[in-house]
Parts: sequence; C-alpha cells; structure tokens
Amino acid sequence: MVKNIAVIRGDGIGPEIVNEALRVLNKVAELYGHTFNYTDVYMGGCAIDKFGDPLPEEELKKCTDSDSVLLGAVGGDKWNNIEGSKRPEKGLLRLRAGMGVYSNNRPAKIWPQLSDASPLKKSIVENGIDFIIVRELIGGIYFGEHKTEGDVATDVLTYSEAEIERIGRIGFETALKRNKKLCSVEKSNVLDSSRLWKKVMHKLSAEYPDVELTDMLVDNCAMQIVKNPAQFDVIVTENMFGDILSDEASQITGSIGMIPSSSLGATTCGLYEPIHGSAPDIAGKDVANPVGTILSAAMMLRFSFDMGREADAIEKAVGAYLDAGYRTADILSEGMTLVGCKKCGELICDYLKKE
Ligand code: IPM
Ligand code: MG
Repeated sequence: MVKNIAVIRGDGIGPEIVNEALRVLNKVAELYGHTFNYTDVYMGGCAIDKFGDPLPEEELKKCTDSDSVLLGAVGGDKWNNIEGSKRPEKGLLRLRAGMGVYSNNRPAKIWPQLSDASPLKKSIVENGIDFIIVRELIGGIYFGEHKTEGDVATDVLTYSEAEIERIGRIGFETALKRNKKLCSVEKSNVLDSSRLWKKVMHKLSAEYPDVELTDMLVDNCAMQIVKNPAQFDVIVTENMFGDILSDEASQITGSIGMIPSSSLGATTCGLYEPIHGSAPDIAGKDVANPVGTILSAAMMLRFSFDMGREADAIEKAVGAYLDAGYRTADILSEGMTLVGCKKCGELICDYLKKE
C-alpha cells in the first residue's frame, strides 16, 4: 500500500524521537512492501520561529490532505513568554480541532518487563494495569473563551449533548472490544457540564446493554488509579480531566516515555503522538525514549491504515528489545543495558520481523 504521512517533528526531543519512529516505519515498509511518503510539517515553536505562527493554514492543510499525521512534541522555555493565543501549544490545539480528531485514546498498560519501574507497590502492580483512557479532545475548557481583564482571568468550559454523545459512543465501542467495563469520569457534584455528561452517558448506555457503565468523580478517580488500577478497563472523560488522569496513569506503568496515543474523528486520517512533552532539558542529547512515538506509529498502522499485522510486529519488536534488557535512561534499572534514543530505534528495527 502507498500512504502519505504528514510528519511533525516539533520542538525539544521531538525531532530525535520522530526520527526513530520513521526508522521503524521504513523497516516496516521494506519488510511488507509498502510505500510511506513523508511530508514535513512545521508546528509549534519551530513554526513560530519560521513563520511567526504556531500552525499556519498551509501547514494544517498538509495534515488534512495526508492519510495520517505523526507528531513528536511541541513547546519549550524559549516560547514561554509568548501570549496565550500564539504559544506553541496553540498550534497543537488548532491541529487537533482542524483535523476534527475528537477522540483521544491513551492506553495505560504495564509491560511485564517494566513492573519494577512502577512506583506502585508490587502487590498492586501484580493485579495488572491495563486500561484505556478515552479523552474528549476538541471541546471543553481548552476551547472555551480565554480572557484576562485586569486582575481577573476567565476560561469557559462548555459541552453540548452532541459533543458528549460522540465521545461517549467511542467509550462504549472501545469497552465492547475489551472487558466491557466503562467508567465515566466527571465532577457532577459541582459542574453543570459534568451533570450533562453523566446524563448523556446513561442515556447512551441503553444502546450498549453488554457494557457495564459506572460513574466516578474525577478526584476519586485520581485516587483509585493509584490505589487499585486493576479495576479499570475503559475510562471515558472530558478534555482536561483526561489530560491530567492520563499523565497520572502513565506514571504507574513506569514511564510516560513509553505511552503512545491515537486521536481520531470522523475519518481514518488520525493524529498519532506520544503523550509526553518536548522535554527541552534533554533535547539533542540522544537520551530520550522514542518508544512512545514508535508505538504511536504502530497505532497509526493499525487504526488508520488497517495494517494490524504490521502494528503487531512493531509491538512484538518493542517487547523483544525490552526482553533483551535494553533500557533508555528514564526506565533504567539495575543490571539493564543503557541505550540512547538512536540505538533504541536501531535495536527495535533489528528485532522487527515479518510475521
Ligand atoms: C497532552 C499535552 C497537551 C494537552 C498540551 C501540550 C497542550 O499535555 O497532549 O496531554 O494538554 O492536551
Ligand atoms: Mg498532557
């Protein structure tokens, strides 16, 4: 198959980790006879430097014209003093909204090889950590009005029934393919938007009798994720709660550097990115962990290109790399072999075999 991929390297460690994901994609193309064409897109701080805008229209168009988008990370101290609407992160939000990718899927799964890297007690980790956070990505407080007037700042949080329903469906559908347990997370004891959220989820649940729906307040959920993560199968939640909970969930699996994500909307053109940031402190030092980006590329193959076998092969190669005892600095433990970002990508390519 021939696929056109828009590639956003971004800022900080973005270029290094994306290079390794492309190395792996090229190996997949070679083994399976596919052609992946790459188009470079500038977004974030590098786009501010180049065009004075974190995501110019032409750059966004390259993404919407592609078959899918692979993204490293954006942002950094250099652009921290820029006004809100022109910050690097604004480029990312514009990209998500421009692509219409309302559904963000963030798995929290512990690799057995990394159970020592989890900060949780062994007795908790042993019960298993394998759940998915389905995060609404293009609504809520991120996209409401933001304004500062004198010494008062305001951010508006709005959700419509339709917005809740479409992400709710993804939650139910995701649960149907797994253990059929969906936990809807909100703050309905305080927020109107959360009361609407809860109402819509329960209305939808009538259409999914095989899925067990539970409700949980977001503060309790934050607690339950560290107390008893094995209870979760699929969590569905709004934009900001999902942002916060997915960072927390990634930590209990060992490292945020290992976690991929997919974002999809009405079409198969998706956005694939690791959930971590641009880590400017370690940029350019060849120490970043590219696995989150490599696994994001695997998700792209599976969800956007219907290349399930190829995605499995990448995930298997990551497993073999971990089995062999290689670790980047973020997950290094005693007796393991320290490798840099580039070496990690090369090793995963070596382990990649046609199934
Ligand atoms: C994420 C990030 C982004 C978000 C930032 C960089 C805007 O934290 O993808 O989780 O808040 O969505
Ligand atoms: Mg985040």
